[in-house]
Order: sequence, then structure tokens, then C-alpha cells
Amino acid sequence: MTAKLSATNDVSAPATESAALGPRVYRTRPGGRTITVGVIGATGYAGGELIRLLLAHPRVKLAGLYGRNRDHEPVTVSHPHLSGSGLDVDQAIPVADAIFTALPHGVAAEMAPEIVGRGSALLDIGPDFRLHNPADYPAWYKFDHPAKDLLAEAVYGLPELHRAEMAAAAERDRTIIGLAGCYPTATILTLAPLARAGLIADLAVDAKSGVSGAGREAKADLLYSEVNESVKAYGMFTHRHTAEMEQELQEQGARGPLGSRDANPGVATVDFLPHLIPMTRGILSSCHVRTTRPVTQAELDALYAEAYRDEAFVRVMADPPATKNVYGSNQCRVWVKLDPRSGRVLAIGAIDNLVKGAAGQAVQSLNVIFGLPETTGLEQYPMVP
Ligand SMILES: NC(=O)c1ccc[n+]([C@@H]2O[C@H](COP(=O)([O-])OP(=O)(O)OC[C@H]3O[C@@H](n4cnc5c(N)ncnc54)[C@H](OP(=O)(O)O)[C@@H]3O)[C@@H](O)[C@H]2O)c1
Repeated sequence: MTAKLSATNDVSAPATESAALGPRVYRTRPGGRTITVGVIGATGYAGGELIRLLLAHPRVKLAGLYGRNRDHEPVTVSHPHLSGSGLDVDQAIPVADAIFTALPHGVAAEMAPEIVGRGSALLDIGPDFRLHNPADYPAWYKFDHPAKDLLAEAVYGLPELHRAEMAAAAERDRTIIGLAGCYPTATILTLAPLARAGLIADLAVDAKSGVSGAGREAKADLLYSEVNESVKAYGMFTHRHTAEMEQELQEQGARGPLGSRDANPGVATVDFLPHLIPMTRGILSSCHVRTTRPVTQAELDALYAEAYRDEAFVRVMADPPATKNVYGSNQCRVWVKLDPRSGRVLAIGAIDNLVKGAAGQAVQSLNVIFGLPETTGLEQYPMVP
């Protein structure tokens, strides 16, 4: 691959084919300021967004882009907006400190042994390393996980909740991050303070996604004429992201003062209803909660302020968030209010599915495992209008 990189890309100390790889080795490499990275699934939406972000990352060198059946194909064939990067897409798995995979479910799990076997850290944007219980894969994704030993080592990729485990994984020979899904990112961050306090007695998650959430593969129900001027529910009772929400919200209960995965009866089986909305990017997750005991607005405000006070990317808002106001950024905006009439709590979160819900979160996680400030390469404000 040719790699004419943007002016901000630091290419001062590239790793060579023979160099040892990975975050642990990176920290000991003399003069090794540059992290070499590769992207597999580079021709898709998540892959394209990753390349865009990585080109502006001051400590990263793009060492290779992988696309199936591509032979030195200019990246502009799949991503015309990346004209000027000089990159091309090839079929060799890149040799790099870190490899991002942005592939349909089941594909990254097949490639993972080769990637981590060379020492590269693996950051999977797909779902192959998110669920801790291997039995969840046939149940939700209809495939038997082919790399259960690697799955057992994977860390769930939501840095705000798993930062310490990510850093610990970076000390090991094999570092595997199963990045959180887009709906789960918005929903889990919106509910984590309540879950940690054991406050969720009953929960309904009503979420909306822009069409890019479904990827760029051509599908009849994603045609403009089908989606435009219409809103529809889909995936009722069976959406695969439900499993992640249950896993992680139960985990928050275990990490809270009640110390139990059963602290929140409402997250044992999450009632999740996704909708497709005629917009390109964005997820809005509206979470309706009946609490385990009476709460006050002051208590809710204190819980959320405490949870997110030191987080660069999660903003607790005074007004309900809009997808428009996070577009193109790595922000997650959350809002929580007690309805004094019904006694229910309404918590709403908004993200850009391709940034905080995919590529941005992947870069944030890269920063964590390589010991960089988490905001490196992700400082951009949202785009409006
Ligand atoms: N879109 C989002 O907002 C979002 C958010 C979070 C997570 N994700 C997850 O990220 C992954 C990628 O999503 P996406 O939206 O980028 O999908 P996409 O636009 O459809 O891209 C899929 C990519 O995977 C490649 N691919 C497909 N089948 C393959 C195979 N058998 N072997 C090798 N490469 C293959 C495609 O290559 P070709 O060009 O050759 O088809 C393309 O590069 C999915 O697991 C998705 O669930 C997506």
C-alpha cells in the first residue's frame, strides 16, 4: 500500500515488518512514539470513518487497509471523501501495533487468531468480542464462536466503564477489545448511573437510529424511497444489541454499592425497541424507568454529576439531547428527569453512531491501551447544521 499521510500524521518512527508489535512492546520500543495501525473492513462505513479519524490522529501511522478482493485499490474508490490521503486498499492483513476490524459478525472472530498471534492489539468494532458468555453467540448471532479462548480474554470496549480493564489487557501478550455496539453505547451510558445505584425496577428502551447504522451493503428496505418520510420499528424482541445491554447493565449493578448482578430487576430482560429514522447518522435512546424506590431529582442530578464529572466525552445536559448536536463528534450527551406526576424516570442519550458508536470509541480505546490521553485525535466539536 502507498501511504501518503496527512500533515498531522506522525511518521517519525514507523514499525517495520520485523518489529515486535502491540501496546506492551510499543511502550518499550526506543523512540516508538508512533503507533502503527491497520484497518480491516476498510471499504465500509465504520472502516471509512475510522480512516478519516486516524488520518488526523497525531500519534498514528496507517500501515495498511484491508478489503476483501481488493488489489491495491485506491481508497477513493470506496471513499471519495478521502481523496488526497494517497491510501489504497489491499488483501494482506496489515502488520501493525493495532488492528481495527469493522466486519459483519463472525468474520473478525475467524481472523482474530492470526492478528493477535503476531502481537497486534485487536480492536473489533463488530460484535465478535462483546459478549462474555460464548453461548450468547449461537443464541443471538446464530454462529458458534470459533475463538472462545480469545473471547475469554476480551474486554468490553466502553472506556468510560472499563478503562482499568483495558489498561490491564494492554499489559498482556494478547490485547483484545470488543468495542461496544452503537445502540448499547447510547443506552448503557444513559443508564449506568441508575444501574450502579440499583434503581432500575422496570425498563423500556425506545431507541432511534439513522440509516448508516445498518452499514452500506445494498438492502431493499434501506432504499431512499423506503426510508424517507417514514419511521418504523424493527427487531422487536430479538435485536442482538439487547444481549449487550443486559450484560453490561447487570455488571454495573455488581460494581455498585449493592454488589449484585441482580441489583436491578429491570435489566434482567431489557425491553428494547429500535426504530429506523430517515437521517444519515445518529442514535437517540429514550429509556423509561420505574425505580426500585422513590427518588428525587436532586438525587438523580448528583448520581449523574458524580458518574460523568471527569469524562471528556459524556456530557450531562440540562435539556434533552438531540442527535444533531453530537453529529461528527465522539460525544455522548445524556439527560435524566423524574416525572413527578407518574413517578417514572426518563433518561435520554444521544450519540453519532459512526463516531462514539463505532470509530471514535475505537480510537478512544486505542488511546487507552497505548497510554495516550483519551481525547487524542478526537477533540473535534460536532458539526451543525
Ligand atoms: N454502521 C454503524 O453505525 C456501526 C456502529 C457500530 C458497530 N458497527 C459494526 O461494525 C461492523 C461494520 O459495519 P459497517 O456499518 O461498516 O458495515 P458495512 O458498511 O456494510 O461494511 C462492511 C465491511 O465488511 C467487509 N466485508 C463484508 N463481508 C466480508 C467478508 N466475508 N470478509 C471480509 N470482509 C467483509 C465489507 O467489504 P466489501 O466492501 O467487500 O463488501 C466492508 O468493508 C458491523 O459488525 C457492524 O455491526 C457498525
